[in-house]
Amino acid sequence: MAFVRLLSLAIGTLYFSGSGAAYKKKPSAFTFSAEGTGYQLGGPHIAPEIRVAPDDLPGVIRVANDLAADFGKVLGVNGTVVTADWKTSSQKTSSRPIIVIGTIGQSSLVDNLVTSAKLDVAAVAKKWETYSQQVLQAPWAGQDSVFVIAGSDLRGTVFGAYEVSEQIGVSPWHYWADVPPTKRQYIWASSTVRTEGPPSVKYRGIFLNDEAPALTGWGHANFKDSQYGSAFVSDFYKRIFDLVLRLKGNYVWPAMWSSMFYLDDPKNGPMATEYGIFMGTSHHEPMARADKEQSRFLKGSWDWKGNRAGVQSFMQEGATRSKNWSTIYTLGMRGSGDAASATLTSSALEEVIKWQQATLTKTLGKPLSEIPQAWVMYKEVPGYWQKGMDVSDDVTLLWSDDNRGNIRRIPIGKEINRSGGTGMYYHFDYVGDPRNYKWINTIQLQKTWEQMSLAYDRGVDKIWIANVGDLKALELPTAHFMALAWDRASFDDPGSTTEWLKDWSARQFGDDAADSTASIMTIYGKLLSRMKYEDLSRTPFAFSAVNYDEAELNYKEWTDLVASAQAVYEKLPSATQISFFEVVLHPVLAGKTVYEIYTKTALGGKLANEHRVSANQFARDVQTAFQTDKDIAKRFHTLLNGKWNHFMDQTHIGYNNWQEPSSNSIPKQTTVTSSVKNALMGVSVQYGTSFFPTTAKLTLPALSRFTAPSEQRWLDVYARDNGTFSYTITSDTPYVKITNAKSTITAPGAGSDIRSIVTVDWTAAPAGSSSATLTVAGSASATATVILPIENPTVPADFKGHIEASGAVSLEAEHFVAGGNEYVVVPDYGRTLSGVKLPTKSVSYAPGKGPALTYSFYTFTATSSASLTFYLSPSENANPTSPNRYTFAVDGGAQTTVQPVPLNDGSSQPAGWSDAVVKGSYVKSASLGKLAAGKHELKVWLLEPTMVLTKLVVDVGGVKTSLMGPPESMIIS
Ligand SMILES: *[C@@H]1O[C@H](CO)[C@@H](O)[C@H](O)[C@H]1NC(C)=O
Ligand SMILES: *[C@@H]1O[C@H](CO)[C@@H](O)[C@H](O)[C@H]1NC(C)=O
Ligand SMILES: *[C@@H]1O[C@H](CO)[C@@H](O)[C@H](O)[C@H]1NC(C)=O
Repeated sequence: MAFVRLLSLAIGTLYFSGSGAAYKKKPSAFTFSAEGTGYQLGGPHIAPEIRVAPDDLPGVIRVANDLAADFGKVLGVNGTVVTADWKTSSQKTSSRPIIVIGTIGQSSLVDNLVTSAKLDVAAVAKKWETYSQQVLQAPWAGQDSVFVIAGSDLRGTVFGAYEVSEQIGVSPWHYWADVPPTKRQYIWASSTVRTEGPPSVKYRGIFLNDEAPALTGWGHANFKDSQYGSAFVSDFYKRIFDLVLRLKGNYVWPAMWSSMFYLDDPKNGPMATEYGIFMGTSHHEPMARADKEQSRFLKGSWDWKGNRAGVQSFMQEGATRSKNWSTIYTLGMRGSGDAASATLTSSALEEVIKWQQATLTKTLGKPLSEIPQAWVMYKEVPGYWQKGMDVSDDVTLLWSDDNRGNIRRIPIGKEINRSGGTGMYYHFDYVGDPRNYKWINTIQLQKTWEQMSLAYDRGVDKIWIANVGDLKALELPTAHFMALAWDRASFDDPGSTTEWLKDWSARQFGDDAADSTASIMTIYGKLLSRMKYEDLSRTPFAFSAVNYDEAELNYKEWTDLVASAQAVYEKLPSATQISFFEVVLHPVLAGKTVYEIYTKTALGGKLANEHRVSANQFARDVQTAFQTDKDIAKRFHTLLNGKWNHFMDQTHIGYNNWQEPSSNSIPKQTTVTSSVKNALMGVSVQYGTSFFPTTAKLTLPALSRFTAPSEQRWLDVYARDNGTFSYTITSDTPYVKITNAKSTITAPGAGSDIRSIVTVDWTAAPAGSSSATLTVAGSASATATVILPIENPTVPADFKGHIEASGAVSLEAEHFVAGGNEYVVVPDYGRTLSGVKLPTKSVSYAPGKGPALTYSFYTFTATSSASLTFYLSPSENANPTSPNRYTFAVDGGAQTTVQPVPLNDGSSQPAGWSDAVVKGSYVKSASLGKLAAGKHELKVWLLEPTMVLTKLVVDVGGVKTSLMGPPESMIIS
């Protein structure tokens, strides 16, 4: 019989439904050694001549200049842009490498290469945002070779150019995260033809939102304010557009809290179009007009019923102004200031949208099918739709998440094949209930993958837009979201997130840092899926300060993470350290510091209750951490001579309602001040709140042969006042081992608490239940007695599965013994180990039908009141005709079906939602009634592909209160 705690891969990988490479990495099209193969584009003092046709789009000529500069950053010598038509070009050779860049159907250079049968663009032409890169031999007389980037349209060409930039060593994050260019002496283009596109999602982009104080403060410090006082002028937006295009996005919702994109800088609108960006306006800003324009330019009130003429002329002006620019028009209407409106009935909304569509087709002189339009199904709006509102098929239904990363809908029925398609508005930052999260990154990428893959696979492929708040600090979730939207097929495998993260980290920080960075940010995402920073101030502290050492062990994961991140940082070249700090080390350090404040406040409270002198050190640690939080922000603000000043101005400590506090505030600490000289020695045991001397005889939780390997049994001896004492701990049985069994304690000072770990030699312990008595004898003739219950039961030799200890069986969802073939295991998903779900395209199953997961467990405690708890993702009922449900049955008995989340009319969040999103899980318990001791089989049917199971706990009388449940039980395999 082998006692093994399974690693996540040991069972999980056997049952992956996907196969092959975890993340389809792009093959490299360039090599960088002195003796390369293919066509040489760069060498010592050699950079390419980049030829672009004068008749090509201005955005192509613009990107050619970026490409020339990017070669310069890598090689140390700039490329040069030569505007040349076919006539001059075809007669001119160059001693330098030549890159021809152009748009098919626009560029005489490219078109003539096609006409002369030198260039085959069949795989590219007429497609949306597609490009090819290839080396052409003898393109014209006297010229050996050229490298050609040919795009199907403006963005196809732009993406082709930026792909070269990234592959030679210029990151999309060169400005926003200071990723230094990779220096190279040689660059060779391989002779393999490469094509990419069209993208998975047609319109993909970001929403700059919740932009004060950080982005706004920074903007005012760096850009000249517009006449209206906004800093978001064209100098700002060109940096945004550069990033979005390098991430192969094409869509932006501009900052709008106190700005007006089209008016703050008259260059903003035409510049977006020239770059190749589709502009939109946020969900409640219809017809390409900013919310802030209403108070200045709307005649009368924002009221369709009461001021139709005023509202119509305001909207008409929006359409007229943007008619020549690439625009996705937001349709519909919400109340003033982004609120629900009492007078907007669904028939009034139908009228609004019909009028908006008529106005667009008339103003733009185009059929509606050629005008991108979106109706954003946000907050109460889906309620109108769910009640049967009629909206023409041309309109993209832009669904949204619940502001916490759980998508509220997948398209169903007639929504699936509408010509306008469907989209998703997703949040990495939010202002509102249950609490804002707008400080730093709190996103688990595995969850983004799971939710957005579900959306995509169920047909949400017209628009993806992510609310990225201030953008800075959300680099990683932004990059991941855009990569998924560009090429969802590369992310088929449920393990693709970590693999993508390795690839991404290698590109930003170098190969040597890639694996460790991926691991650090995977753990970081997991720690944040347990609770976002802003939610930590709730009392009592969510992580148990007593049971399962939950708060303490969770905090230890943070300190370990800091150590790993710091170790990677120290090995990096100094230029790379800056970007690594911004994206990895900063969130890890800053996050650990906030967790330290709340964890030590909670643990310190317990210590103070026991009158431990060390409580005072915890209080001082919290004070120090509070100061450290300020120091870390200052470090961020002084980087690169203050380049990112203001980005850490966001308050984040001391929330007491959904809205941010006006300043950070330290939680109240309890300390020990009174004297208890006559009761200097204290003793406490694990998972207990009583202590010596108040209680003379303490009982440890039972130690079983089958206690989870991650659990240790401990008792603490400590000083309750200033002074010195010695102690010895002895056991009345020889097979109990105690560390630190003899010591001297002096307080105040470090080491005023000493922890002893208690273990049992199972080869010597008696079979069955017994106990040991430990005696803690202090020098001040104080003697505490600690009872250790010992459980040494046997299980049948052929048993395989999880084993009860201390009245609980805890099972990670991926550790089933059978039935996983039709399920998907998502590694590193959720709060503990992983998630298990049906494939995204799975049908819905009736109760007890479809594939079942089988779990095997063994109990020693017979009880008449067993219960079973399911830990699920906080996913919404994304299919309102078929809500999330699961069925379970124990030992072939009656089946129970549970719907964890109630349905509603789509206009609000379901009951229980707030608690679930704060804690990162729906936790649902059901009674099992009588459960005999012995071997059991649990069958679980997940009935919907819109839900994820992470963990199961069987309680036979011993489960204690905690956030995440007991640690996983021992498994015999
Ligand atoms: C290379 O191009 C960059 C960006 O246009 C410019 O700032 C720099 O001065 C150029 N370097 C040389 C040596 O011309
Ligand atoms: C749109 O372009 C047309 C043709 O170039 C021009 O006449 C018109 O003034 C432009 N409209 C706006 C609002 O810029
Ligand atoms: C213990 O000693 C420290 C440091 O000298 C002092 O600040 C504290 O007040 C003392 N505690 C008690 C309970 O007397």
